[in-house]
Amino acid sequence: MEQRYSRESRCYKTSRIFPTDVNNHNTLFGGKLMAYIDDIASIAATKHCRRAVVTASTDSVDFLQPIRPSDSVCLESFVTWTGRTSVEVFVKVIKEDLLTGERIVAATSFLTFVALDQNRHPVPVPKVMPESEEEFKLYETAPHRAEMRRIRREESKKFADYLTVVHPWD
Ligand SMILES: CC(C)(COP(=O)(O)OP(=O)(O)OC[C@H]1O[C@@H](n2cnc3c(N)ncnc32)[C@H](O)[C@@H]1OP(=O)(O)O)[C@@H](O)C(=O)NCCC(=O)NCCS
Repeated sequence: MEQRYSRESRCYKTSRIFPTDVNNHNTLFGGKLMAYIDDIASIAATKHCRRAVVTASTDSVDFLQPIRPSDSVCLESFVTWTGRTSVEVFVKVIKEDLLTGERIVAATSFLTFVALDQNRHPVPVPKVMPESEEEFKLYETAPHRAEMRRIRREESKKFADYLTVVHPWD
């Protein structure tokens, strides 16, 4: 089985915060940041697999700090762990005050992508190899997150069975 280093999937994206990007608190709109996160995570997953991938789940997006128009926002993504046909991608969001240079981790997220073949069936992915201390920490803690995801997926499936698909106007 092919193997790739975490660094081979690493991506960065830095943006300014424009008036159309903010919410009514004049901080970066959460939905905008979530779109950036899914975008950059899917690039890391595709670089690792060198195949089409789909987002299977987002564990959570933890908004730790507000991001203001005077900040830049830098997202970093890389593959942290691999299952058989799925990859876990970590996204770190760093805000930088452009006038002082102060940098703070403003958000983090873990996402899972599944590699698909031409018939859109899941296919095996290359294993990932961590190198840096941060990559090892994320790699070693991944099996626990994967197990939590497995449990949540089972619960989500059961929950969906209870939900109606009838609209009020039907
Ligand atoms: C994700 C998807 C391809 C999985 O297909 P499936 O036939 O259920 O596949 P499997 O049950 O064999 O699971 C394949 C892998 O996906 C993982 N997986 C599936 N659903 C998952 C979830 N909700 N969270 C995390 N991992 C998930 C499985 O653990 C498995 O990983 P592994 O091979 O590394 O062990 C399918 O559910 C799908 O197409 N979902 C919609 C995806 C989509 O449209 N994304 C865009 C969002 S708008």
